[in-house]
Amino acid sequence: MRRNLVLGNWKQNTTKESAVELLDAIKLELEKAPISTDIGVIPPALFIEMATEEQYSPHFSVGIQNISKTQKGAFTGEIGADMAASASVKYALVGHSERRAYFNESNQDLAQKIERCIENNIVAVFCVGEELKDRKSGNYLEVVKQQVNAVLAEVKHLDIEKLVIAYEPVWAIGTGETATAEQAQEVHAMIRSLVNSKLGFNDISILYGGSCKPSNAKELFIQPDIDGGLIGGAALNAQDFVAIANSF
Ligand code: 13P
Repeated sequence: MRRNLVLGNWKQNTTKESAVELLDAIKLELEKAPISTDIGVIPPALFIEMATEEQYSPHFSVGIQNISKTQKGAFTGEIGADMAASASVKYALVGHSERRAYFNESNQDLAQKIERCIENNIVAVFCVGEELKDRKSGNYLEVVKQQVNAVLAEVKHLDIEKLVIAYEPVWAIGTGETATAEQAQEVHAMIRSLVNSKLGFNDISILYGGSCKPSNAKELFIQPDIDGGLIGGAALNAQDFVAIANSF
């Protein structure tokens, strides 16, 4: 179902001590001003339990940055979707551009990961986004369209309730260069109409990610096809993160 959502992807940041500090600071912010938007943190897997131990707000939940494409078995180092679900994880990132680029995740891997999420009642946050060269060549809509089609067409038993899409233009991630509200809206509108025409899902949530911060969140979130954000750097600062979640 379509709803507003802000998720903070901590990536490979924090230690046990600084994760506790960040969670405490987020708690303080949420106590100061109760929030009505759905909000979630996606810490490194080791620290997930700290985040699920406490009920920060009825709208607060916890995600995982990556899950295994396989069911349980002899896959050393992997974390299964069933394990994540049993640890109260609600969301799993799938296809983040950093995983595609540095860990060679293929479209088939991503389709399998989404299947594992659906089987285990986890919402897959499926990430797509073009590189700078595609933006410059003007080919970006086609690139994102292919990313969406190539993966979602392969997923068996796709379930709209278990899927969120995140548009994260690679050139905007961690660069300080945010897509303008118009640039983001154009791609979000394309994704919405594509998912609707191919899969009949007309009320999917589509998040924007890439240098989203308190100063630009409002203009992004006001766009008709932007339902929230997947936040990186700014999610490591509790005040900024909660301010972004309050930008609807
Ligand atoms: P930044 O907000 O640091 O650009 O990161 C975005 C991102 O990759 C979230 O998954």
